[in-house]
Amino acid sequence: MLQPIDMKKKQDKQPEAAPAVQPVQSAKPGIETVKQVRAPQLVKGMKDILPVDQPYWMHIKALIGRMMDDYSFGRIDMPIVEDTSLFLHGLGKQTDIVEKEMYTFVDQGGNNLSLRPELTASFVRSYLEHGMLTWPQPVKLYAVGPAYRHDKPQEGRYRQFYQWSCEVIGEAKAAADAQLILIAYKFYTSLGLSPIMHINSIGCQVCRPAYREALTEYYKNKRSQICEDCKRRLTRNVMRLLDCKEQTCQEIKAKSPHMDEYRCDDCKNHFMSVLEYVDDFDIPYEYNHYLVRGLDYYSRTVFEFYIPRGDDEEMNMLAIGGGGRYDQLVELFGGMPTPAVGFAVGIERVILKLKEMQTAGEEIPIVQQRKIDIFIAQLGERAKRRMMVLYEELLKEGFAMAEAFTKDSLRAQLDLANKLGVKFTVILGEKELIDGTIIIRNMEGGEQEVIDSTKLIPTLRKKLDAWSQKTTS
Ligand code: HAM
Repeated sequence: MLQPIDMKKKQDKQPEAAPAVQPVQSAKPGIETVKQVRAPQLVKGMKDILPVDQPYWMHIKALIGRMMDDYSFGRIDMPIVEDTSLFLHGLGKQTDIVEKEMYTFVDQGGNNLSLRPELTASFVRSYLEHGMLTWPQPVKLYAVGPAYRHDKPQEGRYRQFYQWSCEVIGEAKAAADAQLILIAYKFYTSLGLSPIMHINSIGCQVCRPAYREALTEYYKNKRSQICEDCKRRLTRNVMRLLDCKEQTCQEIKAKSPHMDEYRCDDCKNHFMSVLEYVDDFDIPYEYNHYLVRGLDYYSRTVFEFYIPRGDDEEMNMLAIGGGGRYDQLVELFGGMPTPAVGFAVGIERVILKLKEMQTAGEEIPIVQQRKIDIFIAQLGERAKRRMMVLYEELLKEGFAMAEAFTKDSLRAQLDLANKLGVKFTVILGEKELIDGTIIIRNMEGGEQEVIDSTKLIPTLRKKLDAWSQKTTS
């Protein structure tokens, strides 16, 4: 019979880490050698999402799914590659994203393509392409997926990042703007975040021309003080100057005219109505006269959610989501005039903040990875074959299990079982196979019990019940 193993006796010595590049094996006659190449590396600005981070992602994706069901949004998955012209025309040629940050390439067929830097333009393409105008309006859609921007990578800013993008196409009323703001806010707060929202209304085709003129007039004699990008944009798209991140440009912006002096009555009423709803929902916000956002498709409502991060001395605000109306985008792409509004949340940034809170000792509502209760271990080839079948039988019974069928040493298997923190290990060796018995090892104290193998399932159930009663009492 198998003897209990004293786990304390196990060798603590870790194997030495393998060198990054293995030496080339000396060639033996008749045996192929491996010609080594440089070790592959992650592309700058990209991230692997490792198993340890998956609980955050799973929790967030499940929350998004539940919320989208609550508000009757349909999920859509769109390709990450689109025709470059979709973004040139949709987002605006003079935006930072289009001017500096797109991953653009010509494919083997000579097509000019880009990795999507955001998802809204793709929603509109899809809306038009699938004739969604004939669906009941408004069409409420959402997507969760990667976007690509060749920006300077830093913490919270990646070249591939995931967005949850949520859009209402075919609705002009302020209630749609407000409901989207509420959905985003509820998402953050149910994760334990307390963001502040900046909001503005940048007017429409009727009132914006006068505002543009006033801005151009204001900047006319300040040309020498603004950055090169702003100089270029001054004549072609002056509102982009309000979005410039350069320090000197920000100082000049601080005295520029406000949109609220130029909004037409319709835009004023629409904005007032959005703010009234937002007040009803008790969502904290700041009215930011200069918020225009970095994309040209916006009209009327624009908003952005920020969260403070870092220590008190170097506090900075991280944008964890934003959106607004894009009432002309469908028409711009050849559709009927169709108002629309949406937002996108940056998922990595939300997770970054959640982890920061967790490090600071705050409780965050994240589902933990499935706890494994039982480990299946074996000794000998025949026992392994029996245990591989038993594993499937126990899975069907709903036990949470792990195994190491490729390991022959019982000590190595028990080591792993310990690392996984399982409660019991079921062990089968040659002798037990002949006797029709099986061993259950309690991993906490190391005691082992030999039972009739036909009684395994009810015995395991009993032991797990007793365990959970012990831990809850
Ligand atoms: P956006 O403000 O460009 O809006 O991006 C939305 C969110 O994506 C940002 O608030 C931020 O959290 C995240 N994000 C942006 N760039 C990066 C990056 N380089 N690394 C990590 N996270 C990033 C849009 O994309 C619009 N399409 C939103 C929208 C939807 N407007 C209407 N509908």
